[in-house]
Amino acid sequence: MLIVPASLPFPAEPERLFGRGGPLALEIGFGDGRFLVELARLRPQWNLLGAEMAAASVSRALRRLRREGVRSARLYRGDARFLLRNVVPPRALERVYVNFPDPWPKKRHQKRRLLQTPFFELLSTRLQDGGSLLLTTDHPDYFEYSLDQARAGGLFEVRRSEPPPETLRTKYAQKWLDQSKPIYHAAFEKKAESPRLFSPLRRYPMPHALMEGDLPPAQVFAKTVETGPRANVVLLEAWQAGAGLVFLARVEEEDLAQEILLEARPSASGVYVGLRPNCAPLISSGVKRAVGVLVEWLERQGLRIKQSSY
Ligand SMILES: C[S@@+](CC[C@H](N)C(=O)[O-])C[C@H]1O[C@@H](n2cnc3c(N)ncnc32)[C@H](O)[C@@H]1O
Repeated sequence: MLIVPASLPFPAEPERLFGRGGPLALEIGFGDGRFLVELARLRPQWNLLGAEMAAASVSRALRRLRREGVRSARLYRGDARFLLRNVVPPRALERVYVNFPDPWPKKRHQKRRLLQTPFFELLSTRLQDGGSLLLTTDHPDYFEYSLDQARAGGLFEVRRSEPPPETLRTKYAQKWLDQSKPIYHAAFEKKAESPRLFSPLRRYPMPHALMEGDLPPAQVFAKTVETGPRANVVLLEAWQAGAGLVFLARVEEEDLAQEILLEARPSASGVYVGLRPNCAPLISSGVKRAVGVLVEWLERQGLRIKQSSY
């Protein structure tokens, strides 16, 4: 039920994900998964994708979907924009739901809002002709903002209406209705498509290096941060594993954040530096860079590069 992008081709055919054809819908920010359960009941023939950033919500939703016997949903933990760009094929989606998105009310945080012109451009390439996004929110300012952003892009026709009853049964809907707050709803129907391609992320072969010299003890390690144009890499922690060292790293790229395990361990041909075998991230340019950052840290500890491929 959980989508693991590293194990999928980009884009992934819905038949491969769901084992059947059918209309494809996506919920962005599904929270505790209540709406996905509703939707699965209302539209048993639809294949449902869900994207949610918060890991705790994803676990809660997974438990709920299993408990309710929903088989037509597949969940992704991470940014919906990553799922749209990489996993969803062009013109594949019939419907996208955004229920009570984070409003980011402070002016300086507005750039974090999801429903902005660049998002609508990407969305236009993944929705089928006439497909639509349905927005339900309690936040009048974000509501007007998203309408303005969509109109500025010129790819969507926007229609305000009463929210469909099923969108009023989410956790946040209940919270705002209990406080008697008004709820706003609009449909954004695709009218044209952005000419931008929004190509999927490039993937690379396994990055690694061979070094010579003695590995330092884990105690000398200190958190190492590199902020780069393509990715931010943080080597967070290091610990001893047998004669080698294991490193926990966080790699942040445009719409993708991954925690990965790297290792540096003695081998017959030198100190091998690369990904831990049981860690199978998406090998992006950021993951390649993380190996480079580790190699540079090891160079500062006195090791020398014999061979590199990253
Ligand atoms: C205010 S909550 C609403 C949750 C749920 N839709 C409801 O109505 O109860 C917004 C949710 O959107 C998620 N979220 C925010 N930005 C996201 C993004 N770019 N991709 C996926 N999920 C996102 C947050 O983690 C959060 O769980």
